[in-house]
Amino acid sequence: MTMKHSFLFLFSILLIVLTSCSNKPARHLTDEPFRSVYHHSPSQNWMNDPNGMFYDDVTHLWHLYYQHNPFGTTWGPMHWAHAVSPDLIHWEQKGIAIAPDSIGTIFSGSAVIDRYSTAGFGENVVVAIYTQSEICGQHQSIAYSQDGGMTFTKYEGNPVLMGDIADFRDPKVFWDEQTNRWVMILACQQEVRFYSSVNLREWQYESSFGATYGGHGGVWECPDLIKMPLESEQMINGKMASELWVLLLNINPGGLFGGSATQYFVGEWDGTTFTCFDEPNETKWLDYGKDHYATVTWNNAPDHRIVAIGWMSNWQYANNLPTVAFRSQNTIARDLSLYKDDAGEWRVGVMPSPELLAIKGEQTKVLGDAAIIELELDGKQNAVITLSNEKGEKVVMSLDAHRQTFSMDRTASGDCSFSQDFAAHTTAPLFVHHDTHHITLFIDHCSIEAFGTDGEWAMTNLVFPSEPYNHIDVQGGKAAIYDINY
Ligand code: FRU
Repeated sequence: MTMKHSFLFLFSILLIVLTSCSNKPARHLTDEPFRSVYHHSPSQNWMNDPNGMFYDDVTHLWHLYYQHNPFGTTWGPMHWAHAVSPDLIHWEQKGIAIAPDSIGTIFSGSAVIDRYSTAGFGENVVVAIYTQSEICGQHQSIAYSQDGGMTFTKYEGNPVLMGDIADFRDPKVFWDEQTNRWVMILACQQEVRFYSSVNLREWQYESSFGATYGGHGGVWECPDLIKMPLESEQMINGKMASELWVLLLNINPGGLFGGSATQYFVGEWDGTTFTCFDEPNETKWLDYGKDHYATVTWNNAPDHRIVAIGWMSNWQYANNLPTVAFRSQNTIARDLSLYKDDAGEWRVGVMPSPELLAIKGEQTKVLGDAAIIELELDGKQNAVITLSNEKGEKVVMSLDAHRQTFSMDRTASGDCSFSQDFAAHTTAPLFVHHDTHHITLFIDHCSIEAFGTDGEWAMTNLVFPSEPYNHIDVQGGKAAIYDINY
């Protein structure tokens, strides 16, 4: 333990004592300098991928499960832990939802609302579909909840799908209206497989995708297949279409800036096969930062919204982040949509979810450890935006008008000592020309999430300054700082 860690540890103990003496309920079991205020993080111990997210349209709660080691702050025996939120900002921790058993530990997966009891566990029962990992392999199991996702009973016939290869995991299940059956998309080494089922218990192989598409610098994990409506019906590949399908695919290592990242493919799903419209050797990235992984979407989100959340970390250093009682936080929730860039390519737009945009408070001159900053930058001129503190730590962002890129340099952002892979400089292409770029920065205690105009690109990076950045300098543009209301 370093001096800094010992200090943080003592600080956390002091906070526990102080909060337990006051009448106010503590938001978390522990607080510490890098505990974010409007991002979801576990009360204590380790977290990785978001799992099993579904929206309950009766209680209006957003359910979020996540990969969790309840015994320590590094990756270990995986459980699903559970949190719920009325607004995607305030999260109530609900403890362990699914724990390991003789079949294996509980890896990533998804949850659906089985409205018509296709699985036979009752109407409107929540069914979780997840990977069980053990020494001899990875298998898919299910568990059902008759109390709206609060407690789960494991199906006695588990596993429901036995693995035949080493990496066989992270099932995302959805109800396919084209064929009136469930579809499971599963990450299988460096491709995905599709399975179908009428009852969530028996699964039949349909097809595979990806062996010759996208990035292959690592294992494919946590896939998702999403139907995305188009603003208007249009001719695509010789057919009138009102929707396209997007396949989200997380890859580790092999990300754009090293380690973990999220790629996606745009195409068509006919109920059996995914046909990709992108060039095979093209990789489209959902985020241009280093800390955006395991991103998947909520099932049953309201108003046909497509709401995603990612784990804000990277397997290169996730186990070494300089927090004390907990490790890792999730990104803010983001609404996804499709748009065409200047080259006529379909891209996925990533906007902070409306709930997150609503936390924007009063305009202020004071930059603290949580804020929203709106930048207005001229598309024809270079701009440099520097966030800094009294210790000389800084994050330098720049718009390069010639290259048409936006980048973020965190090499001098604060503590980078815990991993040689942390000090990084990340760059996003500006896919659409604008006379003025409107870029939004969401700042929390240890993160910066940048969103391009209309969500045309996103960039998510962790930072660990020893004091909050309290100064902003903008060359070649304007910045407005807003408080956070949460
Ligand atoms: C992705 C991942 C998944 C797996 C889980 C294990 O981060 O490796 O593929 O299910 O984490 O915790």
